[in-house]
Amino acid sequence: MSSIDYAEKIPNNVNIGGERTLQRALEHWQPHFLQWWHEMGPSDFESADVYLRTAISVDAQGWAHYGAVHMPDYRWGIFLADPVADRKIGFGDRMGEPAWQQVPGEYRSTLRRLIVTQGDTEPASVEQQRLLGHSCPSLYDLRNLFQINVEEGRHLWAMVYLLHAYFGRDGREEAEELLARHSGDRDKPRILTTFNEPISDWLSLYCFTYFTDRDGKYQLKSFAESAFDPLSRTCRFMLTEEAHHMFVGETGIGRVVKRTLEVMKELGTDDPARIRAHGAVDLPTLQRYLNFWCSSSLDLFGSEISSNSAANFASGLKGRPDEAQYEDHVLREKTMKLLMPEGEQDVPMLNALNEVMRESYLKDCEIGLKRWNRQIERAGFDLRLTLPSSRFRRSIGAWVGLPVDPQGKLVSKELFAKSLGSWIPSEADRAFVHSLMKRVAEPGKMAAWIAPPERGINNLPVEYEYVKLH
Ligand SMILES: [Fe+2]
Ligand SMILES: [Fe+2]
Repeated sequence: MSSIDYAEKIPNNVNIGGERTLQRALEHWQPHFLQWWHEMGPSDFESADVYLRTAISVDAQGWAHYGAVHMPDYRWGIFLADPVADRKIGFGDRMGEPAWQQVPGEYRSTLRRLIVTQGDTEPASVEQQRLLGHSCPSLYDLRNLFQINVEEGRHLWAMVYLLHAYFGRDGREEAEELLARHSGDRDKPRILTTFNEPISDWLSLYCFTYFTDRDGKYQLKSFAESAFDPLSRTCRFMLTEEAHHMFVGETGIGRVVKRTLEVMKELGTDDPARIRAHGAVDLPTLQRYLNFWCSSSLDLFGSEISSNSAANFASGLKGRPDEAQYEDHVLREKTMKLLMPEGEQDVPMLNALNEVMRESYLKDCEIGLKRWNRQIERAGFDLRLTLPSSRFRRSIGAWVGLPVDPQGKLVSKELFAKSLGSWIPSEADRAFVHSLMKRVAEPGKMAAWIAPPERGINNLPVEYEYVKLH
């Protein structure tokens, strides 16, 4: 079951060849996808040989097969984790009943909406990152960017397969719309705000892959629990790919910190102006980038109190990440204390699940911070990087529009307006970071603002020519 049929036009391990109508519909969508990739994917690198991994099966041996590929020839396909025999629903009011192989009529539109919203983020991020190849800090980084891009393209395939296979005509229409909306487009933007923010420099890319791809991880984990078995299986396989995206973010920021510390030591100063003059990113600027991307990504979890999240959990559509770690899987009796602008409130746990997810997400985010701070501590500097409070700069939920500082304290409107420029990147910060973005494309060479990685890809040396440009 887990081997992938590469003889087919659309590689897959779900035997779409056995369902002619579905196969025809997907083969009809395929050229539209390729056209989208051509127009909205990485600009100008179609003839480059990129050292990419492709899945040849969904088990541990075969899911990462490496080789040089022209990106437009990447074998995007449909790969689901193997089914679990007799899988039962693991949470909500229908806990213990058999998982669904088809979509129950009463959940059809909700489930379609959830799949479309997830699906929309995948091509959106490719669009956001489209121009970054021109300013890569190394061939190693360029390869990682392209790896992420082709996999986000595959994640779009994962969601489009579900739409085509289980949602009939509506699903096919939604699949077309997924290619018609574009990140940042004034008339037809992507669904979620974070995915309309431009990513025009590599520091933003590392923050995006650290914070926003991690939101993706949490969404996928909660769908991996879903009673709708095909969604669960698709998301379980997507998660194996997602890990690399967050790795790029965590090690990318770690390498920026490392290089900055070298410059700080060399100059014997933590003065941002002097560090910048030396071509490195000062840590306060990095902190402002962290504040921006973390707060933007926190919005993706939705409102603190949400009847939708309650309904989705109760009906079995969307669980909590790693549902098995909890004792109570029904949550009809539980409440949770939430800090609201009016003070602390007891809220039925079912309605507070967005906040439960947001909290465990923030804990996961702390891991990288600890690592980077250890680097700073070892270098002998006092500064520490921090995560902003989940109440800072929210544009959704109870704290929307309120003047809250990065530590989570309500401050006066005046102070907020005056300080925001020192909490998130200012125009001048962005202009400075942009000024560092010059393409370095000689094997093994790194831009001066970032340290080399500790190791290369798939046991190859860092100096390997990961992208052959023609
Ligand atoms: Fe993805
Ligand atoms: Fe991702």
